Amino acid sequence: MEKTRILMVCLGNICRSPLAEGIMRAKLFGRNNYELESAGTGGWHVGDPPDPRSVAIAKEMGLDITGQRGRQFKATDFDRFDHIFVMDNSNHRDVLKLARTEHDKQKVSLILDTLFPGENVDVPDPYYGGNDGFAKVYDMLDQACEILKERL
Ligand code: 4NP
Repeated sequence: MEKTRILMVCLGNICRSPLAEGIMRAKLFGRNNYELESAGTGGWHVGDPPDPRSVAIAKEMGLDITGQRGRQFKATDFDRFDHIFVMDNSNHRDVLKLARTEHDKQKVSLILDTLFPGENVDVPDPYYGGNDGFAKVYDMLDQACEILKERL
């Protein structure tokens, strides 16, 4: 069976997109026709594990994301993935800059378009904030991924 390939993208690939990957992976558990990865538009955290605060909230919710490692988004990801979900408008611009064709561009959408269609709502970057930011991000991503699961 042909697989559907999904990529979650944020800036650093250590806070938001690893959570999105972990949450979506858990929701798709038992379905073998999906592949899921995450990436960052920036390169500062290539090879790094997720931020300890993302690891902690995931653990609290029963998910283990410690095996993930940061990597940078690249143009060839447009060839490998069917759907590219970005966390915020800045990620959206950065990913679209690397698109080579209209077909590439059509693969990209804001993940919160699932909950707030057409409103261009960001998943706020929790990197410089406190732990409650990570809980809020988790909650938003959980709701968004629940909708994605139904639609994909
Ligand atoms: P993320 O958060 O995009 O959700 O992974 C960030 C993590 C690190 C940095 C920026 C955002 N940074 O500049 O190092």
